[in-house]
Amino acid sequence: MPRLPDLALSDGAVDFIDEDRFAALLAAPRPDAARVRDVIARSLAKQPLTVEETAVLLGADTPDLQQELFAAARTLKETVYGNRIVLFAPLYIGNDCVNECLYCAFRHSNADEVRRTLDAAEIRRQVEALEQRGHKRLILVFGEHPRYDADFIHDCVRLVYGVRVGPGAIRRVNINAAPQDIAGYRRIKAAGIGTFQVFQETYHHATYAAMHPRHTRKGDYLYRLDALSRAQEAGIDDVGIGALFGLYDWRFEVLALVAHARHLQERYGVGPHTISFPRVRPALGVALDERWKVSDADFRRLVAILRLAVPYTGLILTAREPAELRRELLGFGVSQIDAGTRIELGGYTEAGDAQCMEREQFELGDIRSLDAVLGELVTDGYLPSFCTACYRLGRTGEHFMEFAIPGFIKRFCTPNALLTAAEYLRDYASPETRAAGERLIAAELERIEEGPLKAELLDRLRQIRETDRRDLYF
Ligand code: 5AD
Repeated sequence: MPRLPDLALSDGAVDFIDEDRFAALLAAPRPDAARVRDVIARSLAKQPLTVEETAVLLGADTPDLQQELFAAARTLKETVYGNRIVLFAPLYIGNDCVNECLYCAFRHSNADEVRRTLDAAEIRRQVEALEQRGHKRLILVFGEHPRYDADFIHDCVRLVYGVRVGPGAIRRVNINAAPQDIAGYRRIKAAGIGTFQVFQETYHHATYAAMHPRHTRKGDYLYRLDALSRAQEAGIDDVGIGALFGLYDWRFEVLALVAHARHLQERYGVGPHTISFPRVRPALGVALDERWKVSDADFRRLVAILRLAVPYTGLILTAREPAELRRELLGFGVSQIDAGTRIELGGYTEAGDAQCMEREQFELGDIRSLDAVLGELVTDGYLPSFCTACYRLGRTGEHFMEFAIPGFIKRFCTPNALLTAAEYLRDYASPETRAAGERLIAAELERIEEGPLKAELLDRLRQIRETDRRDLYF
């Protein structure tokens, strides 16, 4: 594929997507049940799977084997992550865009889309509204446009961290923006970001070329494939990959995501912190053919197989998906969800009950409030977490540290989830959510063994309930 001359790649960048090999793996005869169970067993032993092993799971398409995959994904999720679910919200900063992605309402030629870039006062108002609902973790989303350069992104991040309303504060800002060069990533890192996300959209070269016209910035496949390698070289060791499902064969994209994760792990000693797997949604002025549309049944398989393939990588399931399916898929190994989401520019203060397609990138499937989603989580036995401790204490990079260090989750993740959940219940919850949440916290505390850690945790919970002290993380 042609490359635009001015775009420098990471040191030794290669196109590691071996399409012929993936195609051969996907065309192989259905694996026998013993082989599938063998791979599942490796996964349950918390071994990251190879591309070949992942292909075995993708070939397991009988109802019985699928049920085994789902059960294994559940078990792995429970043993590796416990019942925590991390909550965040996206904040769209600007939808100017120089690209022409066929699936996206923000594409440059879409004259019906209302273009807007929030100014400082508008960003402040959005963040205040998010804080007043209890959010602590945001992802800022930017179109690809020269005005959204690294300095601009940096300044937005600093601005967001500075906004405080009552006990509210944004404690972690992640980024979804155009791929940067190394200097750009360094500048953005200096603002104190969490994860930097870049989705490849599709790893299939011909489909990529069809979706992203050559003359656009995004038309350069390799520059995008290399985006998070450059981030690593710039010192950002917390990156998120993703594919937009519905552009090409979902099984191919799963293999490619696993290949990408392994590539980062091998080159930088750190795999991606998260994987996202958005499915294409309706969007203003978008008419994609539905040849590669991913059914709900296949989507369940996709999530379960990703869970099994990358045991230590966070899986993000967004509000693109409808509430009922989200609820179900939490049991398959999802570790992060957004809630209370609005993606119209300015939507957290300006949007009504209905979505406004002229102002958003695509239509959401779940616009319930944070309180409603959190209430459902605790009712279903999930522990909501707004924890930001690792990143603030510099525990990043070896993101699997939490799994590698014995007792890490017990000592840090669960207590921090409980403390942040208690803050939410105290400061923002509706009476029903608060009651259900307090019951869950009580049940969680029962399961924690007596000792100095529990005593300290109980004392901090008491402080949150009885005083103004907040942000008491381990
Ligand atoms: N439906 C769902 N997701 C979309 N994205 C872009 N357009 C759509 C759509 N119509 C995704 C892309 C992009 C991310 C921010 O949103 O994957 O990288």
